[in-house]
Amino acid sequence: MTAFDVASCRAQFPALSIADGGRPRVYFDNPAGTQVPRQVIDRTVECLTTKNANLGGYFTTTVEAGKLVDLAHQACADFYNAASASEIVFGQNMTTLTLHMSRCLGKRFRPGDEIVLSRMDHDANVAPWLLLAEDLGLVVRWMDFDTETYEFPDDALTRVLSDRTRLLAMGMASNCTGTVSDVKRLAAEARAAGALVYLDGVQYAPHYAIDVQDLGADFVVSSAYKWFGPHQGILWGREAVLKETYGYKVRPAGEELPSKFETGTLSHEGMAGTLGAIEYLEQFGQGDTRAKRIASAWGRLAEYEHRITLRLIEGLKGFKGLTIRGIASANAMHRRVPTVSFTLEGHHPQALAKGFARDNIFVWSGHNYAVEPVARMGLMDKGGVLRVGLAHYNTEAEVDALLSSLTRQIRSA
Ligand SMILES: Cc1ncc(COP(=O)(O)O)c(C=O)c1O
Repeated sequence: MTAFDVASCRAQFPALSIADGGRPRVYFDNPAGTQVPRQVIDRTVECLTTKNANLGGYFTTTVEAGKLVDLAHQACADFYNAASASEIVFGQNMTTLTLHMSRCLGKRFRPGDEIVLSRMDHDANVAPWLLLAEDLGLVVRWMDFDTETYEFPDDALTRVLSDRTRLLAMGMASNCTGTVSDVKRLAAEARAAGALVYLDGVQYAPHYAIDVQDLGADFVVSSAYKWFGPHQGILWGREAVLKETYGYKVRPAGEELPSKFETGTLSHEGMAGTLGAIEYLEQFGQGDTRAKRIASAWGRLAEYEHRITLRLIEGLKGFKGLTIRGIASANAMHRRVPTVSFTLEGHHPQALAKGFARDNIFVWSGHNYAVEPVARMGLMDKGGVLRVGLAHYNTEAEVDALLSSLTRQIRSA
């Protein structure tokens, strides 16, 4: 396969060529939301222009909307390599889907049951379960990570798993440290103990292929706006588990999957845009099915991402007093996503973020809802971290621009 051509990729994103007062925009805010390619915009406009109706009627627009909704479910099934489109549940975003699904799964749990949560996770995969635990009297056990290696020790789950464990909720990749966790191994361990496994794929999905048939979890959730689509959450659930799980819903809604968990009228335009994002991604891959093309696309994009991430990390290592809060060794780029958080002695993360903004470089600072990891690293009252989040449409020149901006900020402080 030919090497990934970042210039022709960038040409597909109208937002990437926008400049402000002659200064190009550098989008390193990707973990909080990516820009969208033309295909997403076109699909969204097409939906709102030609298929704008509710579902289940006999006239043209309702029939067209129904076809679109089916196409979007199938596209997401391919995205996750799910066995069936009926395993795909659309919702507003990952947080709302998780709050909803945690209520539904709560019907299966009893007081005294245990759930395992992770100190590495975004609060969207922590707070819903803490609230459920409070309501039902569940016991919460924490899987802790090593603050030197930014990874879970091999026995992290074994230490907290018991015959009362009903659920493991954890992330596939951290939105703070960038660590990719070995969720396949951990899911197998949890399921062998009789627990359900609920994985937050929000930060993993924009960088690597997800194969739910291989992973062995029960749920995987991600958000299309983190992988070049619109604001839209997408949950995959194992069919057998979805079928036996209680669905909180209105009375006219049926028991069929996936509509049992898709409450109210969905964002058809969001689903159309999501379909567009998957069509965009698929162009970078090869194979005789869309699932194969998507998996191969991620492999190709990841190779490029590893290169620019390493350039960023090696560049950051040159600054005195700077600590990368994540995996930084050159041969370990595959164990992380290109989300690089750091702290710099004598510089508040917020001040740095403002400095980058002055150079039209978009980054985030603070805890970014990664409450547990930032607290665990002792950074909560220090302003958290400065987070630089790359995506495959970023360039080496943009990385260099960030490093130069940091040099200037340090000099002028
Ligand atoms: C790892 C992770 N999980 C969950 C979320 C929440 O996603 P959403 O905005 O779709 O609710 C985010 C958002 O940044 C995230 O980074």
